[in-house]
Amino acid sequence: MNKNITQHELLKNFKVDGFCNDLINWFIQEQRDLPWRKDQDPYKVWVSEIMLQQTKVDTVIPYFNSFIEQFPNIESLANANEDRVLKAWEGLGYYSRARNLQSAVREVHERYEGIVPNNVEEISSLKGVGPYTTGAILSIAYGVPEPAVDGNVMRVLSRVLLIREDIAKPKTRKLFEAVIRDLISKDNPSFFNQGLMELGAIVCTPTSPSCMLCPVQEHCRAFQEGVQRELPVKTKKKATKQVSLVAGIFLDENNNYLIRKRPSEGLLANLWEFPNFSKVEELGTPKQQLQSFMKTEYGLEVEMHEYLCDIRHVFSHLVWDINVYVGKFKGQSINRNDVVVVSEEELKEFAFPVSHQNMWKKYKKEE
Ligand code: ADE
Repeated sequence: MNKNITQHELLKNFKVDGFCNDLINWFIQEQRDLPWRKDQDPYKVWVSEIMLQQTKVDTVIPYFNSFIEQFPNIESLANANEDRVLKAWEGLGYYSRARNLQSAVREVHERYEGIVPNNVEEISSLKGVGPYTTGAILSIAYGVPEPAVDGNVMRVLSRVLLIREDIAKPKTRKLFEAVIRDLISKDNPSFFNQGLMELGAIVCTPTSPSCMLCPVQEHCRAFQEGVQRELPVKTKKKATKQVSLVAGIFLDENNNYLIRKRPSEGLLANLWEFPNFSKVEELGTPKQQLQSFMKTEYGLEVEMHEYLCDIRHVFSHLVWDINVYVGKFKGQSINRNDVVVVSEEELKEFAFPVSHQNMWKKYKKEE
């Protein structure tokens, strides 16, 4: 099956110019009115493309608008406090995107006088800027004919060109990049790439593609053979891991809350959260374990109140099941620089993972 097939074989007898024209004309007519399409400012294109990785357009729109309002250009993001950037990203997930974006923007500010590079070598050396983002920024902001291959684009082209390679394999992405280098419109690489993305988002969708409305239907080999629903081929990733946690919302006699900063590496790095730990069934009830955790970790004698709720949060690779409790502690100084005790007003300024925001919402409802 398609073993080591080349882009030349795939494009044999394919009407490259006709395909490009049909795709681009459709994009000109039908593109959605999206905030990052108002201009070609490379900084805004960059922010939008980072936000759009793993996140749907509808979710991104309000985040993009508010992010650009707070950090309108390279300089403002480079000079911003990281906690403010994480707060602006709160709820979008994959927070390393925000941290990498800021450190790359700082590099652009310092090394390139605030001008986003317009060539593959420099731009792809920036933190968090992989081949997809490189191609997206260069083509959309600078009109450079570079491929921008993401899952949507692989779905569209696997159908159009009847490519049965497994899109979960890195090698397959390379094949798509090679195909696009030959296929991409040299006159309008921006609309070509955006047209593929748009087609994947609104017509050539995963389970029920709208082939009757498709502007490139006459070029589509999968449609001709009636196999569009079988493509793309994608092997399943391994099962997600389940982790059981216990968390506590603790307040002192002045109604201040204890929160802590997550480590600077790993999952949800540098976000803030309520104290929590992995539950060990043999060590007693969750409530008892939480009480002794607060003693050993923070030296606090806590008074446990009621069970609040269970929260489940599903990540791409992991599920958290959290038993949440409420408790009280006596205000005292806690000698750790990853912990603060803050009022409700102050707490709103810290960026929390969605699971901990949900705990807080539940707590406020029951209070
Ligand atoms: N998905 C990724 N990039 C996009 C863009 N520029 N517009 C719409 N959807 C996208």
